[in-house]
Amino acid sequence: MAKITASVYTSHVPAVGAAIDNKLTQDAYWKPVFDGYEFSKDWMKENMPDVVFLVYNDHANAFSLSLIPTFVLGTADTFEIADEGWGKRPVPEVEGHPELAYHIGTSLINNGFDMTIANELPVDHGLTVPMSLMFGDELEKWPCKIIPLHVNVVQYPTPSGERCFALGKAIREAIESYGEDLNVQIWGTGGMSHQLQGPRAGLINREWDNQFLDKLIADPEELSKTPHIEYVREAGSEGIELIMWLIARGAMNLEKTPEVTHRFYHVPASNCAVGHLILEENS
Ligand code: DHB
Ligand code: FE
Repeated sequence: MAKITASVYTSHVPAVGAAIDNKLTQDAYWKPVFDGYEFSKDWMKENMPDVVFLVYNDHANAFSLSLIPTFVLGTADTFEIADEGWGKRPVPEVEGHPELAYHIGTSLINNGFDMTIANELPVDHGLTVPMSLMFGDELEKWPCKIIPLHVNVVQYPTPSGERCFALGKAIREAIESYGEDLNVQIWGTGGMSHQLQGPRAGLINREWDNQFLDKLIADPEELSKTPHIEYVREAGSEGIELIMWLIARGAMNLEKTPEVTHRFYHVPASNCAVGHLILEENS
């Protein structure tokens, strides 16, 4: 049977992707950010899954105000890299796992989560920056398959934290009912505190971010009850991306506190706080 072995959480700041692509990772400004992922790249090589179920959000590249689906499951064979206005990132196309994705879609829909199914989905920095951080750069081919799950965190109404957490639980059930022996990781991306526009642009809240990390590890059920307004007030308008981390956390074994394999937090990265966790299942 397929099983979830670990979850990974990371910010997906587009400037981090630009720093990688322009070979600036060892510059004084960027080095402290990338140092936080050195452990992760080694861990990843030793713990390479067959498939990563990657929870991210599109930033008006695949979708726009003309179509605002809440949860979109990528069932394609391959996902092209989106051109976000300055050319595609120089990274390989993303390979999907249509059989597992379709199984998960069927299970979720039968369980009351009415997913949108995408057989075509250009993927933007929300998905590719976490992959570059964890897998490294200058790859000819990504080392495993990816099932993208897009969550609308851009245009209200966005789903509640509780709904995201419940979706994570249903994703676990779906993956665990797949008949083939596959090692699956689930990643939650976006955040941490950042606000890109208006009078509060540049807002960073280290204390709130770190409390979020503490609660995500120790009491995610309680954390999932946090209302949207608290994310926006405390972590800025784009801090709401953190609800995607609740999906990944909900897909872990909730009977046991996970092993905290790695924890990292750094400010600044462009106009954002960068947060990162690797949590492994404790059996
Ligand atoms: C920026 C964009 C993002 O999607 C994000 O999560 C953080 C920062 C940006 O444009 O700087
Ligand atoms: Fe984002």
